[in-house]
Amino acid sequence: MRQKMTLDQIKTMFEQSGKVAVVGGGLMGHGIAQIFALAGYEVGLSDISSEVLEQVGPKVRTNLEQMAGYGLVDPDAIPGALRRIHTTTDMPQAVEGAGLVFEAVVENLELKQKIFSELDALCPDGTILATNTSVISITEIASTSQNRGRIVGTHFWNPPFLVPLVEVIPGADTNPYVVEACMDILARVGKRPVRVKKDVPGFLGNRLQHALWREAISIVENGIADAAEVDEAIKYGFGIRLAVLGPMENADLVGLDLTCAIHEYVLKHLEASKEPSPILKEKEAKGELGFKSGKGFQDWPIERQQEVRQRLVDHLLKWHVANPKA
Ligand code: NAI
Repeated sequence: MRQKMTLDQIKTMFEQSGKVAVVGGGLMGHGIAQIFALAGYEVGLSDISSEVLEQVGPKVRTNLEQMAGYGLVDPDAIPGALRRIHTTTDMPQAVEGAGLVFEAVVENLELKQKIFSELDALCPDGTILATNTSVISITEIASTSQNRGRIVGTHFWNPPFLVPLVEVIPGADTNPYVVEACMDILARVGKRPVRVKKDVPGFLGNRLQHALWREAISIVENGIADAAEVDEAIKYGFGIRLAVLGPMENADLVGLDLTCAIHEYVLKHLEASKEPSPILKEKEAKGELGFKSGKGFQDWPIERQQEVRQRLVDHLLKWHVANPKA
């Protein structure tokens, strides 16, 4: 059983395999495949849709060429990275010989449980099985598998090849060495893994992010500011600082006495609802879904959507240029 394996054994087995597999080749899956292919690993990538798989090569090429345009990737490394990604609709073929398998299928508990049960039966004991779930409990995903010690959460952020963070989350039965090995493997392919000690809904990043979104939506709902003004306040205010000063550092910087005094006064006025806001539910019911319907909290004509997407990619690329060692 994997529970009995040592950290060195787990790491050695991974390195000797020289291969990762990714199950689900959509938005996240193709990006995770790209990270490992660029780092020199063979990658087996499976999806149930051959149309999705046909898009993987062109998408990875575009991503890598954009990065090369900023000097972040050697253009000569692109053909090799593309050659190392092997797509197939046959999951057993994709995972064969892989030392680490990332699951990145749609966010559905039953489907993920089914895939992990299959992977658990298919892959030898030494293979680490990781899920990219955004919010679902790792323990629940692993619950239908036998060898739960090797199942772990590795939560990448979109786009995974440009956002360094990967949250690494153990389920109730995960071997601590599997967590250690993932931290090590992810760091070696240039990611910034962060250990989450408890398997709680939303893990770490999404709990923080959605606490902010809940307050932002509540501010709009209560007429305190318009949606665009809320975003301006963040983009031109504390959002700039956040990239270099986290809230825990910032609390220490301003002083915990001041933080305590602010919380004494203001916390009771903040949104604490346990449900999605009425305005959010109302917009969803009206089909005002944001970019995909052209209207959400704001109007989104196609040109404006493209401008926002490009702005994000350019910002992330420039961030990497400015932070070469990150
Ligand atoms: P997506 O919809 O772009 O890709 C999912 C892929 O899974 C699709 O190509 C689909 O054909 C494939 N699929 C469905 N059933 C399958 C099966 N049985 N076997 C193989 N492939 C199958 O979804 P996306 O956004 O890439 O999300 C994947 C996972 O990553 C989800 O768990 C999601 O919550 C998580 N995630 C998503 C983020 C995002 O920003 N979109 C960020 C971080 C995590």
